[in-house]
Amino acid sequence: MTSRSAYRIAPSILSADFARLGDEVRSVVAAGADIIHFDVMDNHYVPNLTIGPLVCEAIRPHVQVPIDVHLMVKPVDRIVPDFAKAGANIISFHPEASEHVDRTIQLIRDSGCKPGIVFNPATPLHWLDHTLHAVDLVLVMSVNPGFGGQKFIPGALDKVREIRRRIDASGREVMLEVDGGIKTDNIADVARAGADTFVAGSAIFGSKDYRATIAAMRAALAAVA
Ligand code: DX5
Ligand code: ZN
Repeated sequence: MTSRSAYRIAPSILSADFARLGDEVRSVVAAGADIIHFDVMDNHYVPNLTIGPLVCEAIRPHVQVPIDVHLMVKPVDRIVPDFAKAGANIISFHPEASEHVDRTIQLIRDSGCKPGIVFNPATPLHWLDHTLHAVDLVLVMSVNPGFGGQKFIPGALDKVREIRRRIDASGREVMLEVDGGIKTDNIADVARAGADTFVAGSAIFGSKDYRATIAAMRAALAAVA
């Protein structure tokens, strides 16, 4: 038995139609999204530039589910309170982008949000040694961060298995989220490796019927023993 709770689907609005973002987030929540995944890129830590706290604040009244802010920015700390004020519920960051990882985790918690730590494909797991007791979410990147629509890197599954083992050994309730290249046909493998929260951008927003796509993902997850 693991301490895993129910599976959660977290559509990434990176692949939404930004010209109609309010409609898009309302539609995807109505279609069954459990969480809105909000990708923040700064054209410095990653080679792309997306959205900030103003957009988070703008969508907040339109969604009743948690907003999961994935910071791909360097430095991290200055922007954390702005996202907390803008209505973020979870804020995760890349440890390579923070000078003081423990301080950043505390800052997120003190701002009233749940802290998460993110692992790129080549980020070693030793970052968990002194942080797992303090975070509410571990996010495993199954692509290199910066763009939607990339191909899933299978090596991420070993990392997910190892993190699942560590979370279970800790006895804490920590969400284990995977981000990048997740589709209806590989979501079950990611769940079997131990993930409980699944980010999907292009697979959902690139589909015609968000409800049908999310339902197909849930059906695939239901088949996981
Ligand atoms: C990539 C982002 C992802 C991305 C996932 O840097 O963190 O959240 O939007 O997109 P898909 O599901 O299309 O791989
Ligand atoms: Zn993301």
